[in-house]
Amino acid sequence: MKILVVNGPNLNMLGIRDPRMYGQLSLKVINDELKKIAASKNCDIEFFQSNDEGEIITRIQEAYSDGTSGILINAAAYTHTSVGILDALTIRGKDNPFPYVEVHLSNPKQRESFRHNSYLEANALTTISGKQAGSYYEGLVHLIVRLDMMN
Ligand code: DQA
Repeated sequence: MKILVVNGPNLNMLGIRDPRMYGQLSLKVINDELKKIAASKNCDIEFFQSNDEGEIITRIQEAYSDGTSGILINAAAYTHTSVGILDALTIRGKDNPFPYVEVHLSNPKQRESFRHNSYLEANALTTISGKQAGSYYEGLVHLIVRLDMMN
């Protein structure tokens, strides 16, 4: 089973970026922990981060034909704006989305009102927010369990 982890804009700055909101860990440290969790569950894992909406859409499109089973995604600010990323995740139709879990370090629902909407939420297997890096770790475990149940 192969998992793709997709991170959107400004998440390459974790560690520097508002540590009280997002935690002190760099994306590399989070990814290293995700690698360990994936290995313990006999899963392959790949990582992709981009500050560019089009690059994220292209990478998600590639997942349909590169053997990826599920996506763990923090679309960051694009969560609140991007119909294009939603469309990429639901290319096969809203009834048959790419299996994905949405994660956020902070809890956007408890922040400014412009962060309350998520275009990705409705079709996600689940959304995990507000646990800083823990959202990713919990999200990955959830994704693997749900993929196991589908197979
Ligand atoms: C975020 C929340 C978004 O509102 C914000 O734009 C981010 C990070 C989070 O992980 O808490 O960049 O997705």
